[in-house]
Amino acid sequence: MTMLYQDLMEKIRKEVKPLLNKGRVANYIPPLGGVSPDKFGMAICTVNGETFTCGDAEEPFSIQSISKVITLTMALNKLGADIWERTGREPSGNPFNSLIQLEYEKGKPRNPFINAGAIVVADMILDEFPEPQQSLLEFTRKISGNTHISFDDVVAVAEKRFGHTNRALANFIKSFGNLNNEVEEVLDFYFHQCSITMTCADLAQAFTFLANGGKSALDGSEIVGASTAKRINAILLTCGLYDDVGDFAYRVGLPGKSGVGGGIVAVVPGELAVAVWSPGLNEHGNSLAGVKALELFTTYAGNSIF
Ligand code: DON
Repeated sequence: MTMLYQDLMEKIRKEVKPLLNKGRVANYIPPLGGVSPDKFGMAICTVNGETFTCGDAEEPFSIQSISKVITLTMALNKLGADIWERTGREPSGNPFNSLIQLEYEKGKPRNPFINAGAIVVADMILDEFPEPQQSLLEFTRKISGNTHISFDDVVAVAEKRFGHTNRALANFIKSFGNLNNEVEEVLDFYFHQCSITMTCADLAQAFTFLANGGKSALDGSEIVGASTAKRINAILLTCGLYDDVGDFAYRVGLPGKSGVGGGIVAVVPGELAVAVWSPGLNEHGNSLAGVKALELFTTYAGNSIF
């Protein structure tokens, strides 16, 4: 199969081309609004260490909410099951930045992949790591094998300036006693994590440990235990695409995580991680052509988990 991945990605790229201008590029974070909707990249990294790339797979973009998987992994490594005292692990059925559920559920976010949950996880990272931003970059560089990965300060500053909903979420959570650190400190870390810039090739490599029982495909080192990898995949499957998660499971059938930068990463357990990037989004904030590309991928390759 691996010999065919290159051809398969080229075929998918041609098929999704008519969709590239159909989505809407996120502009509530102004620097994201300037990205061309014509971009399309796709990369596959297998557990055997092979990499395949297509289109704009080597072009860096803002990973946004995909960073929530990286911080969750760091928090699980430090705190284990204790994190579930402070965030749930059920799908929310609501938009990624919704405030409504938080009131009913008394400041305990539904899951770690909606903004509210990621803000609570950010607070955990501040508690556990003396140099949280540096530790986040080091971990991201380690799992991706790219030592140049960094924050985009222009994006981080814009998120800080226009992040009124996130500020409301963080204050609300704080009012229920579910943040230990000051709201602005937590948000500063959260906005930085969202601003990390990576390519499809970086992302596919970074997530291969989730396809490989928790071990890096680069050097075989343990990133998380096999049971933790299983659990992260389960949360990706049920919560990784917000209120679009059922449609994604129906069409793609893989654990995955999206970001409003237009990236999506998905995992074929035991085989590979695949990343796509196309900045035009659907009404749920997920890449329109990206979801289609992954749907075509699992349809043609016959490798969904179902
Ligand atoms: O906090 C925000 O709204 C953005 N920095 C991240 C949101 C996001 O990527 C949602 N994904 N589809």
